[in-house]
Parts: sequence; C-alpha cells; structure tokens
Amino acid sequence: MNSTLEFAGRTALVTGAASGIGREVARRLAEAGAAVVVADHNEQGARETAEALVAAGGRAAAVGVDVTDPASVRAAVDSTVEKFGGLHLAVNNAGIAGATAPTGEYGIEDWQRVIDTNLNGVFYSLRYELPLILASGGGAVVNMSSILGTNGFAGSPAYSAAKHAVVGLTKTAAVEYASRGVRVNAVAPGFIDTPLLRGGDDAQRDHLISLHPQGRLGTAEEVAELTLFLLSDRASFVNGSYHLVDGGYAAR
Ligand SMILES: NC(=O)c1ccc[n+]([C@@H]2O[C@H](COP(=O)([O-])OP(=O)(O)OC[C@H]3O[C@@H](n4cnc5c(N)ncnc54)[C@H](O)[C@@H]3O)[C@@H](O)[C@H]2O)c1
Repeated sequence: MNSTLEFAGRTALVTGAASGIGREVARRLAEAGAAVVVADHNEQGARETAEALVAAGGRAAAVGVDVTDPASVRAAVDSTVEKFGGLHLAVNNAGIAGATAPTGEYGIEDWQRVIDTNLNGVFYSLRYELPLILASGGGAVVNMSSILGTNGFAGSPAYSAAKHAVVGLTKTAAVEYASRGVRVNAVAPGFIDTPLLRGGDDAQRDHLISLHPQGRLGTAEEVAELTLFLLSDRASFVNGSYHLVDGGYAAR
C-alpha cells in the first residue's frame, strides 16, 4: 500500500455504490488508498464496481445490502470490519427518486418506500456505523441529502421530506459524536446526471437544467469531489453542516 495516499489505512463503506454518485465516490476513495466496501442491493452492480476498483489497483469488496432492512444494514456494516479490520469512513448514499404526484394525491405505499429508503436507510446506517467508527478510533461520515433537503419540489413530497430529515439526523449525530473524533456532514447535490434522473423525457430534462444558473446538470465527479473533501482530514473543522454542490440552484 502506498502510505502517501490520502486515505491509506482507512476503511470506507459506501451504500448505493453500484451506480452514479456512490460508484464515483467509491472509485475515488479506492484510488486515494482506502479499502472500500461497495454496498448496494444491486449485487451484480456492486460486484462489478468492486472488481473494477481492484483491477485498477485498489482494495475493495462488494456486499449486498438493502438499506430499508436494519438487519441487512447491520450485516453489511459488520462485514466491512470483518473484511478490512475497521471502519473509519461512511457515505450513506443509497437512495431512490420515488414516484411523483402532488402531496394530496401521493400514494401511501410510494411515500413509505421513499421514506424507508432515503430516511430510514440513513438512520439504520448511522445506527450501526457509529459504534464501529468509534471502536476504530474515529472518522468521518457523509450523508447524501439533496438540494431538496432545504427546498420543496412540486410532485416530490416524500423525497423532499426525507432529504430534509437527513439534514436533521446529520446535525444531531455531529453534535453527539464531535467530541469523540467523528465528523458527520451532509452533501446536497443539485440535479446530477446519473441513472436516477434518466427516466424523464427531453422536456423534463430541459426544465431541470433551466433550474441551475450554470445551465447544465451536475456530474457524479463533481459531487464526489466535495464528498471526498468532507471525508478527509483537510475538512477537520467542518462538522454538522449542509454542503451544496448545485451549480447555483439555491442561490436563485
Ligand atoms: N441524481 C441526482 O440528481 C441527485 C440529486 C440530489 C441527491 N441525489 C442523491 O444521491 C444519491 C445517489 O443517487 P444517484 O443519482 O447516484 O442515483 P443512482 O440511481 O445512480 O444510484 C443509487 C444507488 O442506490 C442503490 N439503492 C437504491 N435503493 C437501495 C436500497 N434499498 N438498498 C441498497 N441500495 C439501494 C441503487 O441500486 C443504486 O445503485 C441518492 O441518495 C440520491 O437521492 C441524487
């Protein structure tokens, strides 16, 4: 292992790492020397991602996880320590866009599915990660919120509510664990060009682009850049806060 790499000697768990933002974060962490567990309920995608990281010279392993199931999350977190002997960094990123409908018409099961994945999944992850990060001597966590963690968005009540709640969870965990060497921050992307967004037609995509003063969607690389900074010792006094990477969306 090259000990000059920024994350050498650290172990990281990234949920939702088979695709999009999570995959890019996992790639960058492995490139910078971390041992990375690629966790996703798309087990084939997780395996392919981990294999690509190993082929590029990194240390990585895949684990299947369903973040809506606390027992599954616990098993994935435990297996990270079993595989690599500790847990220092976690990126709680698994998420879904969910159905779209106005609040007064939103499907009850659709609501529960989004809250289970985008909110409960982050809580279960923190619940099982934090004791093991403490036991490993401290570290840093990033929870993937969204620009919709502070803004409403017509047709996405469950998504916006879950992403707002992730900010509250982030702040609370940060306050609780700050004195014990664990930092917890939230990243808030604008609309990012990943498979999560690729269901809509050209008109919907153009509308989303128009919401960003920079006149384009963001990239997974741009979100990963901020996420890695927050996980690193360069961000040693950055804690409990909400970090936009949104091409000016929130400034409008
Ligand atoms: N793409 C955007 O515009 C955007 C904007 C703001 C925030 N985000 C957030 O970023 C995160 C990553 O999104 P992305 O754009 O990379 O999407 P993506 O669809 O490319 O990746 C999401 C990953 O999460 C996994 N996943 C979904 N449900 C899961 C579950 N129950 N258990 C385990 N894994 C599960 C999927 O299999 C997938 O690999 C999400 O939390 C999303 O809400 C995305």
